Amino acid sequence: MTANPTSIHQRLDRRLSGFSLEQPFYVSPEVYALDLQHIFYREWLYAVPACQLARTGSYVTLRVGAYEVVIVRGRDGEVRAFHNSCRHRGSLICKARQGQVAKLVCPYHQWTYELDGKLIWANDMGPDFDASKYGLKPVNLRNLDGLIYICLSDTPPDFQTFAQLARPYLEVHDLKDAKVAFTSTIIEKGNWKLVWENNRECYHCSSNHPALCRSFPLDPEVAGVQADGGVSKKLQVHFDRCEAAGTPAQFVLAGDGQYRLARMPLQEKALSYTMDGKAAVSRHLGRVAPPDAGTLLMFHYPSTWNHFLPDHSLTFRVMPISPTETEVTTTWLVHKDAV
Ligand code: FES
Repeated sequence: MTANPTSIHQRLDRRLSGFSLEQPFYVSPEVYALDLQHIFYREWLYAVPACQLARTGSYVTLRVGAYEVVIVRGRDGEVRAFHNSCRHRGSLICKARQGQVAKLVCPYHQWTYELDGKLIWANDMGPDFDASKYGLKPVNLRNLDGLIYICLSDTPPDFQTFAQLARPYLEVHDLKDAKVAFTSTIIEKGNWKLVWENNRECYHCSSNHPALCRSFPLDPEVAGVQADGGVSKKLQVHFDRCEAAGTPAQFVLAGDGQYRLARMPLQEKALSYTMDGKAAVSRHLGRVAPPDAGTLLMFHYPSTWNHFLPDHSLTFRVMPISPTETEVTTTWLVHKDAV
């Protein structure tokens, strides 16, 4: 398939409502290249929870298409993102997925950068060399209440509207007090859109996730929102009860459908995603009331969906790595004093 933007639009225009996209959207290298160029290189992408960068010099690396990025906590406590590429001859600077360093030192010829990206040492470059011109190239970064987002574009789209909407929902979860309990990274054998399509329905849940269904309801009156954003009476009662207790819960869909938040109830009497419905951890992460407030579901296309429970939280990061492979990283967060 020749996947120029016109043919993409033609194929989108003839898509039947309620059906998948045509096959090339899931397998074609040309469409994949356009996905990266027009979506992943332009949009804000969820990267990591800030607590994963707990100490000065803590860093994580990630790859977005052709770009390598390093995210590091500086001496001033600020988290910054840079292209993980040395300004000398482009060597990868940090090779591990995560670690802790005093300085960012290129392994090739040892150019040395401060944690804020400034070049502070470069051997034998001569008297006319101006180190101030060769700091690491920054990548846009926002810290949304403990969730780090990055954007590779030189002209990033608006993030503030999403942040203002999401912040009150997230504040009660105190992600600044979190630590990582466990991280899992898997490679799903499917295009990133298939990963999302699977995530956006629970039609498959009863036959594939019996453990989840012990606490996660399938009753559409409780678990679903109508296409026009309307909610059942039962669900509205739940939202109202949470909001009366000071916990934002109402369903919101904004950004032309790019992001959505709602605090959904769990199965009756369930407090968390566990086999017996009890809390998974006794030291709760956050101040969520009532105890059966359920799960704050938040997604932000194209890179993340999340579940924030009264006792712990889960973040998911979706990163395409080929037309037919997607890296999915799941991170379980608990209170920093939890055992
Ligand atoms: S490529 Fe990094 S110091 Fe030469």
